[in-house]
Order: sequence, then structure tokens, then C-alpha cells
Amino acid sequence: MALPMQDRNLQQQSPQRHAGKKAIYGRRYAYTVAAIAALGGLLFGYDTGVISGALLFLTPAFHLTSTSAEVAVSAVLIGALLGAAVGGKLADAIGRKRALIVLGGIFALGAVLTALAPNLWFFIGFRIIVGFGIGAASMITPMYIAELSPPSIRGALVMFNQLAITVGIAVAYWVDLAFAHANMGWRPMFAVAFIPGSILALGMLFLSDTPRWLASKGRWKAAEQVLGHIAHGQAKADELNGIHQALEAEKKTSVRELFRPGLRVALLVGVGLAVFQQLVGINTVIYYAPTIFGYAGFSSASAAILATSIVGVMNVLATILSLLLVDRLGRRALLLGGIIGMAVTLAGMGIVFAIGANNAGIFILICLLLYIVSFAIGMGPVFWLMSSELFPNRLRGTGASISSFSNWAANLLVSITFLTLINLVGKPGTFWIYAVLAVVAFVFVWFLVPETKSRRLEEIEAYWKNSREW
Ligand code: BGC
Repeated sequence: MALPMQDRNLQQQSPQRHAGKKAIYGRRYAYTVAAIAALGGLLFGYDTGVISGALLFLTPAFHLTSTSAEVAVSAVLIGALLGAAVGGKLADAIGRKRALIVLGGIFALGAVLTALAPNLWFFIGFRIIVGFGIGAASMITPMYIAELSPPSIRGALVMFNQLAITVGIAVAYWVDLAFAHANMGWRPMFAVAFIPGSILALGMLFLSDTPRWLASKGRWKAAEQVLGHIAHGQAKADELNGIHQALEAEKKTSVRELFRPGLRVALLVGVGLAVFQQLVGINTVIYYAPTIFGYAGFSSASAAILATSIVGVMNVLATILSLLLVDRLGRRALLLGGIIGMAVTLAGMGIVFAIGANNAGIFILICLLLYIVSFAIGMGPVFWLMSSELFPNRLRGTGASISSFSNWAANLLVSITFLTLINLVGKPGTFWIYAVLAVVAFVFVWFLVPETKSRRLEEIEAYWKNSREW
């Protein structure tokens, strides 16, 4: 197979310069890969966050009731559930690269179609299509990045994906704000996703598939060539060997292993974290924040969306803080501390709504800001990180897909019942329910979630098999 131009040039240089340049090229390659592929995370964030401000305009345009508003918000999640279910298989069948090109196309096309939707039914249909892209991208993007990055920075890159999601949400809020301000309504809000969608599809055309996927299709020469971009000498040989062993081990493994004593607690922890990440009500805030600010007395759409944009920025900043702290303080400290913060602020919001405080707006804003900081420091990034750490290598893909599917299912459950719950038990009752669920989440994490900081995957597997003792 012909070498890429850059490799051919490198081969004509002196060995030392060759090695030095190759290292730089390798790092640059890893960064380019991460940047382009993180567009998948950004689109996940953008396409889920955009609904929050748009909802204020969709409601009068499509005469939404609380039930049809819930369906309009949740359509994307129905698609995401499908996408998460088949994403892994798609990436195995046609490769990570081609899958991401297809998804970029779905995002771009879906953006235009949604913006043009003539009525609620078309809107829902197009959002389901976009949702498929989001669900599949939520699995394939981290997989692609992890399989193409040097082992030393793999964990950091998984967290980087969560950062991309929060940036996507924040951008969506600010775009919503700009169009609300200009009185241009909801259509352009959705259309904007055409840009990152096309960049993802086009950018991926220039990148290679991952060594692991190429090897799984028996294309070892191509796998070795791609590996040459990220590892050299012994490191490259070790990586190839690692891929070989992992593929062999996977052939002998079945999903049933996850249900046997030992590993089934790992599965319970993965699924439990996924479900609790949603049951604490994060997406009632991400998707409905302007609506909540409306309840609290923010009278104009612009003011409510402005307050939401601040929530979006705090989400990004606290995620960065979490990235900096997670290897120092450990996963448990961040999870437990974050959950306490969420329980307190959720209860606080319930109280503010119950007493109907005069300055409810400002109190709700403060509570929501502290709530989002608590989520973004703990549950937000730590769940995704742990779902890639909890399972032994040979079951990592399967374990991560089960937990990611459960995450979308719980997300759908919460988002499709939020407004109904408000009608049924009132605003204070609704937030108190989430506060109680946060307390249950605390107990779950306290008793079941191990500290995986600085542990090797083999040690973690031994922990599960060893009646949960290190
Ligand atoms: C969650 C999403 C949520 C986002 C908010 C992610 O970790 O899975 O459901 O919208 O965080 O930042």
C-alpha cells in the first residue's frame, strides 16, 4: 500500500530528524483526530441543548400543550436510544471512520430538515433522525478517539469528549439567545448545526480508520501503518500485540460473562451510574431551563434564555475543574460531593417554589447555577469516565454500550415526564422528587462504587472477582 505523502518525505531525512519530526507529526495527528472527532461530542451537546430556547418559540408556533411539548423535546431521545443501540454494530460493520461520515451527514441534513419542518409531526420525525445521530455519535466518538490516541492520554481524552458536549450545549444556548434577541424564531436555531455536521463529515474523509478496526477486518498492514502515526518502535509493537490479544480474547467472550457472579456487580454499577446520572434531573435543566426561569418570573424569552446561557457557561467551567481534579481527589469524592450539592440545591428550588418567594427568579438562578456546578464536577464527566474503566478490556465495548443505552433510556423517562409531573404534583413536589432520588444516588455510590483512580484495568477486574476487595 502506498505511504501517505508526509511519510514518504520523512523517510528521506536523517534518522534523528526523522524520529523527532515523526513524534511531532504523531502528536499533531492525535490532536487533529481528537479535534475533528470531538465535533461528534459538540453536536451531541448542541442538538440536545438547542431545544431549550427553541421551545419558547415552538410552543406558540405549534400550539404545544405540556404533553406535546414533552414529545417535541423527547423526540430526539427516542432517536438517540435507537442510535445508541445500533451505533456499536454500525461502527463494527462499516468502520468508525465511515460511520462518523454518515453521522456527520445525518447531522447536517437533519439540521436543514428540522429548520424547514412545516408542522409538529415533521418536526418530531426530523428530530428523531437527528437523535439517531446523537445516540450513535455518543458511542462512536469516544471509541474512535480512544482507539487512535496514545495510551498515556486515553483517559484524558474520554473526559475531553464530555467537555465537548458541554461546549456544544453552551454554544446552543448562546445561539438561541442571539436568534431570540433578533426575533428570528426557532428555525435558524436548528439550522446552525448544519455547519459542524458538514465539517465532521468532510473532516473525517481525510482521517484514517482505527488500527483496531482495520485489524479486526484482517487488514493488519493498514493497521500497522496507521499505528505508525501514534506509536513508534517498541511502543508500536506492544500496541499491535495488545490489539491482537484483545481481538483473540473477544472471540472467546460472550455477553453472558457480564451476568456471572463477580462481573455482574460491575454491570450493576455501570448501569446504576448511568441511570442515576439522569434521575437527578439534569436534563430537566438542560432542556427546560428557560421554561423553569419562566415559572420563576423571568417574563421575556430573551431574559430566560440569557439566564440559561449563564448556566451553560458554568457547566463548561465546572467540567474543566473536574478534569483537573479527577486524578487528584479521585472519582468517589467528586461523585459524592457533587451529589450532595445537587440534593441540596434541588431541595432549595422546591422550597423557593413552595413559598413563592418574591425574588424567586434570582434564587432559582442561584440554585440552578450551584446545581449545574455540582453535576458538572461529579456525575457528568465521572459517569462517562467510569463506564470506560469498570469493565475488563474484552468486555469494555459491550459494557459501555449497555450503560450508554441505559443512560439514554433514563434520560427519555425523565424528559418525557417532567411537565406532566409538574402538573400532577406541582413545582415544589417535582424538585423534591429529584432531591430524594439524589439521596438514593448517594447511598448507591457510597456502598457500591469503587475508587478506580490509579488502578489498572486488571486490578479492577480482580476487585470484582475478589468479592469487591482490593
Ligand atoms: C449527560 C447528558 C447531559 C450533559 C450535560 C452528560 O454527561 O449524559 O445527558 O445533557 O451531560 O452537560
